[in-house]
Amino acid sequence: MAKTENVNLPGVGEEVLAILGCLDCQGGLASGAGGLVCLQCGREYPLLNGVLRFVDAQNYAGSFGFQWKLYSRTQLDDASSQRSERAFRRRTGFRPEDLAGKLVLDVGCGMGRFAEVATRWGAHVVGIDLSLASEVAAKNLADRSATIFQADVFKLPFAPESFDYIYSIGVLHHTPDCEQAFKALPKLLKPGGRIAIWLYSSYNPWYRMSDVYRKWTRRMAPEKLHRLCKVVVPLYGVHSVLKKVPLVGKPASSALAWAIPMSHNKDATWRVLDTFDWYSPWYQSKHTYEEVFRWFESCGLQDLRVIEQPIAVQGTRPPVQRENSARETAGVAQCVE
Ligand SMILES: C[S@@+](CC[C@H](N)C(=O)[O-])C[C@H]1O[C@@H](n2cnc3c(N)ncnc32)[C@H](O)[C@@H]1O
Repeated sequence: MAKTENVNLPGVGEEVLAILGCLDCQGGLASGAGGLVCLQCGREYPLLNGVLRFVDAQNYAGSFGFQWKLYSRTQLDDASSQRSERAFRRRTGFRPEDLAGKLVLDVGCGMGRFAEVATRWGAHVVGIDLSLASEVAAKNLADRSATIFQADVFKLPFAPESFDYIYSIGVLHHTPDCEQAFKALPKLLKPGGRIAIWLYSSYNPWYRMSDVYRKWTRRMAPEKLHRLCKVVVPLYGVHSVLKKVPLVGKPASSALAWAIPMSHNKDATWRVLDTFDWYSPWYQSKHTYEEVFRWFESCGLQDLRVIEQPIAVQGTRPPVQRENSARETAGVAQCVE
């Protein structure tokens, strides 16, 4: 085991400890000398740089570790901007009164901007992320009701029926198998609990050329790609000029946008961040409402809702087992193992 710290476990109160289970044997976990230890098999989960680790590497998510360390607070709301709160509402449909006092799982929390919103609304948020973004989130949320782990959605250390709400925003399409990543989650909801996910849309054709560029960009060292984004993104200014040219300006701007897809965010720093975020991930899939609805239904989720920003879907785990719920129960069970 790596060298660990002998300090208190941040954010791991009794409520969180009670839902944790060993990745190997599902045994209960308890606080040990340098982190958590399984009471059954003795496996240790170290606390390093203030974060408990349920993985020992970032695997394919290294670019996200780089990204969120560099842009550690850019997207956090403050007195002058509530953009993350607005995005959270548009991508989950959750409201403050839903989350207040609830135990909430943020799958792929990144640097913690949406967990920040949910804690502001009164939730206790457990945030997990595969990358070193987890260290950034732990720092950003140090004074909040939040617990951050470095963990993989495909191997989560939680007991079934642990959470009142689960959300995952812009994450599952960055895994090797978006559908299977989603299907790891419904079993973690308490009966009656709600889950919301937001994925990239495959209805939108603007990114077709970026699929070609991504074959190279995702292989580039993050530092190099980031430098390239900083050089290319100022082309954004050309669009504003072109749009003012009568007749040919708008088609020329559209042609440029098609040939060199990039973020058109109104904030210059967000533009570079969003463009890097688009071109750097190893995995990036796009999805339709039809397929996402099928996943929700096959897990026995009910009351499915389309939320404002495509592709955003919300559903509920059936509250109690009714007589006619055998099919629904089987559905959730399918998404359990
Ligand atoms: C585009 S970022 C989104 C972060 C955050 N949800 C947000 O919207 O600001 C995607 C995040 O998913 C995380 N991620 C990718 N694969 C993962 C996995 N298998 N398990 C957990 N997190 C994962 C990455 O490390 C990254 O921080």
